[in-house]
Amino acid sequence: MIKHLRSAADLDAATATLILDTAGEMASLAGREVKKLPTLRGRTVVNLFYEDSTRTRISFEAAAKRLSADVINFSAKGSSVSKGESLKDTALTLQAMGADAVVIRHQASGAPHRLAAWVDGSVINAGDGTHEHPTQALLDAYTMRSRLGRLDGLRVAIVGDVLHSRVARSNVLLLTTLGASVTLVGPPTLIPLDVAALSRSTKVSYDLDSVLPDMDVVMMLRVQTERMQDSFFPSAREYSRRYGLDLARMRRLPEHAIVMHPGPMNRGMEIAPEVADSSRSTIVEQVANGVSARMAVLYLLLGGKA
Ligand code: NCD
Repeated sequence: MIKHLRSAADLDAATATLILDTAGEMASLAGREVKKLPTLRGRTVVNLFYEDSTRTRISFEAAAKRLSADVINFSAKGSSVSKGESLKDTALTLQAMGADAVVIRHQASGAPHRLAAWVDGSVINAGDGTHEHPTQALLDAYTMRSRLGRLDGLRVAIVGDVLHSRVARSNVLLLTTLGASVTLVGPPTLIPLDVAALSRSTKVSYDLDSVLPDMDVVMMLRVQTERMQDSFFPSAREYSRRYGLDLARMRRLPEHAIVMHPGPMNRGMEIAPEVADSSRSTIVEQVANGVSARMAVLYLLLGGKA
């Protein structure tokens, strides 16, 4: 088993499949009255969040607690110390506390890589800048597999603000490792060529309507205005008209296709409320699956057996 999960590229097909299978085992716990396993008793998991988060932070906390680990939540937002230094000092503190795993979300791409050099425990990337978010990709893959029965050969469109999306990068890497084919869709200003180049099979399209009839999965991304210094499209209305998923567009999808979104959503912008709340939408399921996927990651990285 790998020690750190810094990038979806850390996962080969066998390791990723083992994590997804283990997540399935963990999910079967969620239905029980007592949801706890004793497996990580006496181990310490630190959640180190330098950036806002609702789902991911709660999800990691729930996952660690269900495995009986001691959980320390460290919300580092608002620190005025320069980034590199404060991260190193924090790492030394965590090291002194004997953290077995550090879950880190940081505004700087690459922060988990640096942290891994400073602590002895496992480092799990919970989102670094615009770089990666590997556990999101795992929960997304898990959701696709449980809804559609397979990943191999699946056709997945990732739509919208790919440029600023760590979710997109990690999904391209993981999904193609597991045999799915990915099409990135959005306005040219938001589709960077380096993401398309992450895997040779990844395609790019600027025309959502023409892509939808051929997809098994459409994953809508949040338009991340907080990361935009420039104007990447004429107006929110214009964006929504061309790249928003409304009911009429959703009907272009094949009958079996599902609609995903990592959250938080801009309802009415990239996704219409009726679509987000429709039976094709897996958005709430993704959140529940996130806990199972993160339990599997913590369990396997900290030395559990399959
Ligand atoms: C994503 C993130 O923070 O990278 N959200 C999440 O983890 N569920 C995507 C986003 O912020 O749009």
